[in-house]
Amino acid sequence: MTHILHRQIGRQYPVAVGGQGILVQDANGKEYIDASGGAAVSCLGHSHPDVVAAIVAQLSKLEYAHSSFFTTCVAEDLADDLVAHAPNGIDHVLFVSGGSEAIEAALKLARQFFVERGEPQRTHIIARRQSYHGVTLGALAVGGREWQRKPFAPLLIETHHVSPAYEYRERRADESPIEYGERLAQELESTINKIGGRHVIAFVAETIVGATMGAVPPVPGYFKRVREICDRHGILLILDEVMCGIGRTGTLHACEQEGVAPDLMAIAKGLGGGFAPIGALLIGKEIFGQIAGGSGAFQHSHTYMGHPLACAAALAVQQVIRRDDLLTNVRKQGAYLFRRLGERFGNHAFVGDVRGRGLFQGIELVHDRSTKEPFDPALKIHARVKREAMARGLMVYPMSGTADGQRGDHVLIAPPFIVDATAIDGIVDRLGEAVDAATVEIE
Ligand SMILES: Cc1ncc(COP(=O)(O)O)c(C=O)c1O
Repeated sequence: MTHILHRQIGRQYPVAVGGQGILVQDANGKEYIDASGGAAVSCLGHSHPDVVAAIVAQLSKLEYAHSSFFTTCVAEDLADDLVAHAPNGIDHVLFVSGGSEAIEAALKLARQFFVERGEPQRTHIIARRQSYHGVTLGALAVGGREWQRKPFAPLLIETHHVSPAYEYRERRADESPIEYGERLAQELESTINKIGGRHVIAFVAETIVGATMGAVPPVPGYFKRVREICDRHGILLILDEVMCGIGRTGTLHACEQEGVAPDLMAIAKGLGGGFAPIGALLIGKEIFGQIAGGSGAFQHSHTYMGHPLACAAALAVQQVIRRDDLLTNVRKQGAYLFRRLGERFGNHAFVGDVRGRGLFQGIELVHDRSTKEPFDPALKIHARVKREAMARGLMVYPMSGTADGQRGDHVLIAPPFIVDATAIDGIVDRLGEAVDAATVEIE
């Protein structure tokens, strides 16, 4: 009998006892290929000796110092490192302990910025349907996953949700990708106009949509138009790169490939690579300057922000990524993964789309390829795929609600950056078997 409130009460979880590289071992000695990095977390794989050494070295010096009394060298070094490689205009960092906390801080800092600038009438946030920004109340409010928000709706700040950039399902046959992006931009602009541009704080979006839709990149030009619209109305652009950032798509930040820089950006998972719980909010010059020249303090703090062990882990992870030129491997193996997924699933009766960038890719499962009709949600195809994959020693990240928040299934594939072609062959083979087994009885 367990005393943990597990994610699924009553379910028996295998006990993870070890990990090495891209493999995780359970207590029965079974090995799993970690083809999803957990939830796109483990960018260096497991037990990386350089990261372990950095944590141990920090632990032997100082485990913790409260940030209202002290700063630490390791937190300062990590902040310098992140700012040195940040998108244009970012010059400060707030450390937190995960993705939801980073988003929560982004929303509050954006609001405080406008209050201090003498624009307290800005109270509205715009975000997108089928997005995921975390589970704390602010992050849940901006998230666009309806079933997850519904029970808590009376507790959530009012947020306006516009359409995601979801080319597979929502681009019309008579539209080019650019025209589709323009239609989305116009939807954002008309939402802003309805609320009144002077009343909007920020637009929040994942640069590449992760958990809720399965690695869906934007259409070309979309984020440039979004940036332009935000600028015209004096609205902040908050990018959520908690899942898609820190190298996962082949560049350090996914927004680099869109040619835009945000005012605020949340990063987390790949920052600490799973070696420690850490997230960060990257903060633009103007926002920092306003608070620095105004109240002089962001009204927001956590006990564990800038935790030295977490900062040591994150700094080591970032140094290894650069030293070993792992982003080149992400691009190279990402291209190979995309090709292999295309070969295995391109003509699969129940796979409608293969998509993604770098080592952040997804397949969307459909009942009917020609109509894109999703599976009946009662079949829980995503859960079947996960079960069948685990049975075959493969960790992938399947999820439901892809198509419209209720219906639809996808599988996210996000292996560590150290993966090689042989491992990718193993991942695609096992995933193929798992999808076949999960759909075998379906007509
Ligand atoms: C895009 C995105 N934002 C925020 C979060 C929340 O992060 P955390 O689970 O660390 O709170 C996640 C987690 O999956 C995410 O994918």
